[in-house]
Amino acid sequence: MAGVTSCCRAGSCEQFFKPSVARRSLETYRRKGLDALERQMVASASATGTIDGLRVLEIGGGIGRIQAELLDAGAGEGEIIELVSSYEPYARELAREKGHEARTAFHIVDILEEPDRVEPADVVVLNRVVCCSPDGVALAAAAGRLARQALVLSFPRDVFWIRAGVRMLNASLWIMRSPFRVFVHRPAELFAAAEAEGVHVREGDGSRLWQWATLRRAV
Ligand SMILES: C[S@@+](CC[C@H](N)C(=O)[O-])C[C@H]1O[C@@H](n2cnc3c(N)ncnc32)[C@H](O)[C@@H]1O
Repeated sequence: MAGVTSCCRAGSCEQFFKPSVARRSLETYRRKGLDALERQMVASASATGTIDGLRVLEIGGGIGRIQAELLDAGAGEGEIIELVSSYEPYARELAREKGHEARTAFHIVDILEEPDRVEPADVVVLNRVVCCSPDGVALAAAAGRLARQALVLSFPRDVFWIRAGVRMLNASLWIMRSPFRVFVHRPAELFAAAEAEGVHVREGDGSRLWQWATLRRAV
């Protein structure tokens, strides 16, 4: 795994996604594995045939739990793209525990600032990322552009009580002087942005809080 220095857009994420958050992410994954929504996403990513040998890219991937599970399932190589460096040691630890060191990489890249630094992948994962950015729709477009076969993304459901909860959360963050904010984007806008890049919604589902969808490129 190889990392490079962090870039400036990362500011609010750096403050929010601290090493303690990254460490908890690894500890929770060790104890419980993926949650139900993520398990559905993994099943969908490998649904249309074999995942064997495919390249997986997890954008805003944190410690890279989903790419790790797809590597377990037979994917050939994985890459985690992150804005913040705090995840890197824990991503490395997870790769070591799973014996994936030679097949996975962690890079600090702002996918919106430097899209050309990232190679396309057969399967692109965008799990709980668009809600961390006012540019969530542009993130869906960038991910769609990089997906050779499938884009699997998740985002908060666009319902009034989630919007109300997010407003309260953002007010608390403002009171705590945190620059980090959460965003609820309209699914139709996320899908339209990715579909403009040639992938199309094929399946999806959700929980009370989250929704996921898989978009595939026509062959
Ligand atoms: C809520 S975290 C989710 C992490 C991981 N996907 C998970 O579910 O554990 C969202 C992540 O997206 C990353 N992110 C946001 N905008 C990004 C961008 N433009 N390029 C790369 N990563 C980004 C943030 O650094 C943050 O770690």
